Amino acid sequence: MNLQKHSLAAILSVILATLISRQLTIPNNETSLNYLKNIGFKTFSTTSPILSLFIPNKIYKNHHRHNHQCHRTKKKTGISICNNFTPKFPTIDTTTTSILCVDGNGCCNFTTVQSAVDAVEVLSPKRTIIWINTGVYFEKVTVPKTKANVTFQGQGFESTAIVYNDNANISHGTFYSGSVQVFAPNFIAKNLSFMNVAPIPGPGIVGAQAVAIRIAGDEAAFWGCGFFGAQDTLHDDRGRHYFKDCYIQGSIDFVFGNGRSIYENCKLISMANPVPVGSKNVNGAITAHGRASNDENSGFAFDNCFVGGTGRVWLGRAWRPFSRVIFAYTTMTSIIAPEGWNDLNDPTRDQTIFYGEYKCTGEGANTTLRTSYAQNLNDTQASSFINMSFIDADQWLQPFA
Ligand SMILES: *[C@@H]1O[C@H](CO)[C@@H](O)[C@H](O)[C@H]1NC(C)=O
Ligand SMILES: *[C@@H]1O[C@H](CO)[C@@H](O)[C@H](O)[C@H]1NC(C)=O
Ligand SMILES: *[C@@H]1O[C@H](CO)[C@@H](O)[C@H](O)[C@H]1NC(C)=O
Ligand SMILES: *[C@@H]1O[C@H](CO)[C@@H](O)[C@H](O)[C@H]1NC(C)=O
Ligand SMILES: *[C@@H]1O[C@H](CO)[C@@H](O)[C@H](O)[C@H]1NC(C)=O
Ligand SMILES: *[C@@H]1O[C@H](CO)[C@@H](O)[C@H](O)[C@H]1NC(C)=O
Ligand SMILES: *[C@@H]1O[C@H](CO)[C@@H](O)[C@H](O)[C@H]1NC(C)=O
Ligand SMILES: *[C@@H]1O[C@H](CO)[C@@H](O)[C@H](O)[C@H]1NC(C)=O
Repeated sequence: MNLQKHSLAAILSVILATLISRQLTIPNNETSLNYLKNIGFKTFSTTSPILSLFIPNKIYKNHHRHNHQCHRTKKKTGISICNNFTPKFPTIDTTTTSILCVDGNGCCNFTTVQSAVDAVEVLSPKRTIIWINTGVYFEKVTVPKTKANVTFQGQGFESTAIVYNDNANISHGTFYSGSVQVFAPNFIAKNLSFMNVAPIPGPGIVGAQAVAIRIAGDEAAFWGCGFFGAQDTLHDDRGRHYFKDCYIQGSIDFVFGNGRSIYENCKLISMANPVPVGSKNVNGAITAHGRASNDENSGFAFDNCFVGGTGRVWLGRAWRPFSRVIFAYTTMTSIIAPEGWNDLNDPTRDQTIFYGEYKCTGEGANTTLRTSYAQNLNDTQASSFINMSFIDADQWLQPFA
């Protein structure tokens, strides 16, 4: 999202003034790898302990979209690094499913995630599981519209990640900055992380929005996944989506888009700068939902989630006039600004936005000082969002196993 379009210079300056200015152009070569190792991960790990777990992992850097098979390099001992390669593939019915394997050391079919995606049969009615071994895959990945029914299976969101560092400037718009971009329907991701490690901008810098993943395909599900970035981390663009047991980190608008989605049992962790005690400055927002008219059935529903981290943030900002977000049974720490929500300084939106809370707990869930348009939902209203029928789950959502 382009913050410049909204009168939020005040918020930005609060955030930016306190951040360290960094080199902004990260070339896509060794420098970027060093950047990732030496700056990117450190930057993020200071506020996100989970990311420090990635540091010991091997980073596989791949900028060309080739299939490098048989990179079975020998160590000095003469023992192939692939000797211990024993992938735990899921048991599959080969009439309905096929498996492609990605390993950065070249121990199986592909060394990059993109090369595996490229190998998926076009318009296949079968499901293709892309099994991704532990490691950090430094590449930009696109799942085009024609590659339906793809599953990314990682080995845990703390050990397998797809990482890139484009920002809005480099990619000519926030919408194309995603480290991973999914345009295909029926996409599934399990047990891996999506990260954008573009530098956090210095004072006054525009064009630094950096998406970790854009989900523009219908009927997508994410189980046990991590989403790491700062501004605009998770672009829940459009379609019906389900997120379960996920970890989502960001600062401004870090879940944004016009999706119709349920987030269940997820952690939403703000990495906005800590706000001085007594200060009323707000320096971040969890959501920016983009529903544009009353005819759209989109909305973000957070059920049984946790909201915490640093800074002082709103639960949501009205990116478009009919923005719709609800939080149910969610624990919120004191990082939530008492007013809760923001209309982007456009009071005409107060009549049309739908922001609701239901049976939430924690210091941040105190609704006494909420904006006038925030609603305490009743049972009927809440269940229309947290019922799986909100995303027509019975038509498409498969169980995890
Ligand atoms: C990496 O990019 C920088 C800046 O564009 C350039 O100076 C350097 O020569 C490049 N290194 C390699 C190995 O291509
Ligand atoms: C992937 O590797 C497996 C086993 O090593 C092999 O049977 C299969 O044909 C390979 N698939 C592709 C698309 O290369
Ligand atoms: C594959 O995708 C098509 C189109 O989205 C969908 O109708 C079909 O059910 C999917 N098949 C599987 C096995 O998921
Ligand atoms: C984006 O481009 C504008 C205009 O060239 C520049 O002022 C700004 O610093 C750039 N931002 C980033 C994050 O590179
Ligand atoms: C994968 O994700 C599922 C669903 O959240 C979780 O129950 C499981 O423990 C995860 N497995 C690994 C290896 O992280
Ligand atoms: C909720 O906030 C109001 C206003 O700050 C305060 O008076 C009240 O004690 C709070 N309630 C709880 C349960 O903390
Ligand atoms: C819940 O709220 C809606 C909207 O205000 C109202 O129409 C409905 O009657 C309420 N239902 C219950 C059970 O209170
Ligand atoms: C969820 O919605 C379905 C279909 O509208 C309905 O049959 C079911 O009773 C609802 N479940 C709950 C727990 O409200």
